[in-house]
Amino acid sequence: MDWLYFLIVCIILFLVLQIITILRADCDLALTWIEKLGKSPDCLRDQVVWVTGASSGIGEALAVKLASVGCRLVLSARREDKLQTLKQKLIDLGYGTPENYLVLPLDLLAYDSHKKLPCDSHKGLVETVLKYFKKIDCLVNNAGRSQRAVISKTRFEVDQQMLAVNTLGPISLTKAVLPVFIQQNFGQVVVTSSVAGKFGAPGLGSYCASKHALHGWFDSLRVESVMYNINVTMACPGPVFSEALIHAFTEDPDKKLGVTMKPEEKRMSAARCAHLMAVAMANNIDEVWITGNPELSFLYMNQYLPGIFHRLAKRFAQKRLKKIMEGSNNLH
Ligand SMILES: NC(=O)c1ccc[n+]([C@@H]2O[C@H](COP(=O)([O-])OP(=O)(O)OC[C@H]3O[C@@H](n4cnc5c(N)ncnc54)[C@H](OP(=O)(O)O)[C@@H]3O)[C@@H](O)[C@H]2O)c1
Repeated sequence: MDWLYFLIVCIILFLVLQIITILRADCDLALTWIEKLGKSPDCLRDQVVWVTGASSGIGEALAVKLASVGCRLVLSARREDKLQTLKQKLIDLGYGTPENYLVLPLDLLAYDSHKKLPCDSHKGLVETVLKYFKKIDCLVNNAGRSQRAVISKTRFEVDQQMLAVNTLGPISLTKAVLPVFIQQNFGQVVVTSSVAGKFGAPGLGSYCASKHALHGWFDSLRVESVMYNINVTMACPGPVFSEALIHAFTEDPDKKLGVTMKPEEKRMSAARCAHLMAVAMANNIDEVWITGNPELSFLYMNQYLPGIFHRLAKRFAQKRLKKIMEGSNNLH
């Protein structure tokens, strides 16, 4: 029987160690270990990576990280001036020559099915990238908008616009790139989802819907595309410093939140988030959670103890809702 006690003690010690790691980590357990023991982002050198939402926040930081390891980049968002400034910054940092970077303004809402397009359609943009780089190794669907609004007060147009920009935009762009990946017989799609893509949260109803929908579509794409060597990585960050709250949706489709994040808020830096996303890309991880606590513990609880999670979430939501009503913005 001694060996049985020994086994039980080992299992208990292992579980305690995992719980302590979760409480101290700023990402999920697998990513914590892979960051230490897996491939470094250096292995992405020379890859052609298309990053949307590169004009600020996480996308900009990811562009800097990928450029630092020698990737060639397509930099996309609507604000072309910001993308040009970023390109110059990458060159000034000594990360390659101007030819390594293609500034490609893009509006996620310019679906190919739209009659009047404000700029090139997504299919047209793919042709431009191919003409310039001859291939695409990876598409990072990062661009998106956040939200602060209580569901009961939110106009339906907000739900529509949120799904259009955060869900249909990335789906349309990915569909435009997919034939290239299939023809190449390889490709990687990275999606910046959110912790809010894994469970519901107060003040983020339309946002949560848009991010949850991404998981359904891209998880299906992953299992459908195995035969073409196409990998899909879903990145789920928690609160990160960025411009997100300036441009966030409110209850009213014509009103942006217009709040700047304060340095004292408990958020991860965009650079750290970008580094962990690059590790996930280098190691082809299907899904990563990039956040500290309490969000990380909630994610584990939601996954492994859903009954307890839902009970706690209802209590916790009331406190958060009160904070939102009082104007606190420290939600992702
Ligand atoms: N910050 C967080 O706490 C957090 C947490 C979890 C997940 N995320 C996700 O991370 C991603 C990046 O957000 P962020 O936090 O870095 O915010 P951000 O600084 O506001 O960046 C958003 C990016 O999306 C682009 N964008 C917005 N609407 C667009 C459109 N219609 N067409 C093309 N590009 C558009 C913006 O560029 P232009 O305005 O120039 O077009 C900008 O580059 C989003 O998907 C967000 O949901 C953020």
